[in-house]
Amino acid sequence: MIFAAILAGGIGNRMGNVEKPKQYLLLGNKPIIVHTIEKFFINDKFEKIIVLCPKPWIKHTRDLVDKYVGETDRIAVIEGGSVRNETIMNAVKFIEENYEIDGESVIVTHDSVRPFLTHRIIEENIEFAGKYGACDTVVPATDTIVESADGELISSIPNRECMFQGQTPQSFKILKLKELYNSLTDEEKEVLTDAAKIFVIKGENVYLVEGEVNNIKITYPYDLKVANGMLKGE
Ligand code: CTP
Repeated sequence: MIFAAILAGGIGNRMGNVEKPKQYLLLGNKPIIVHTIEKFFINDKFEKIIVLCPKPWIKHTRDLVDKYVGETDRIAVIEGGSVRNETIMNAVKFIEENYEIDGESVIVTHDSVRPFLTHRIIEENIEFAGKYGACDTVVPATDTIVESADGELISSIPNRECMFQGQTPQSFKILKLKELYNSLTDEEKEVLTDAAKIFVIKGENVYLVEGEVNNIKITYPYDLKVANGMLKGE
């Protein structure tokens, strides 16, 4: 079985002083999160699409789904967690409570604020997670990446050929993800902002799926302007 988790549990601090979490801001004529949900909904490989958002926004999110996508039980809206990985684990818990999953079952996790992902990226995530157990969507780094441990001095300049920028989706075999997450210490959980890193620090392979430069994350007000421009050009 294949599930999607659309991560919308954040509040978008870096978007500045806006009246709602950034995933609910309009992109063109509908909220960002609706664009993202629609990309998953048209793929009928997903048994369930789980949208995770802050508790006060659950009803609003359900209303948006009903209004824009239609009343469907293929989409569930549930509460996210206080940090991103907890949001993912809430999706895992929901899946386990409602489905009989096995070692082959896959979860495709995606930022609600990356509305430009493509069908090809989703398909490759499903394929790679099924084949290899874990995958991450990336694009080759275009700028040289400079590492600084203290923010003052350069500690290293890694070879750009080996550098990639992480996007989402990130997709995993569900039971493996849960096993690895449960084996983390509280300190490890605190520093881990990235789900693929759970696999990496436990020595598990994570395969690369080729992302797209268009698959941007809307983080700052500038990104929303860019996204609106991209939408007009689509
Ligand atoms: N996210 C989540 N649960 C959290 C925190 C973040 O599901 N507890 C989601 C966000 O809603 C977003 C995605 O993870 O879709 C990427 O995170 P980011 O862009 O950092 O979103 P925010 O945490 O909302 O932004 P900020 O860091 O500016 O507050």
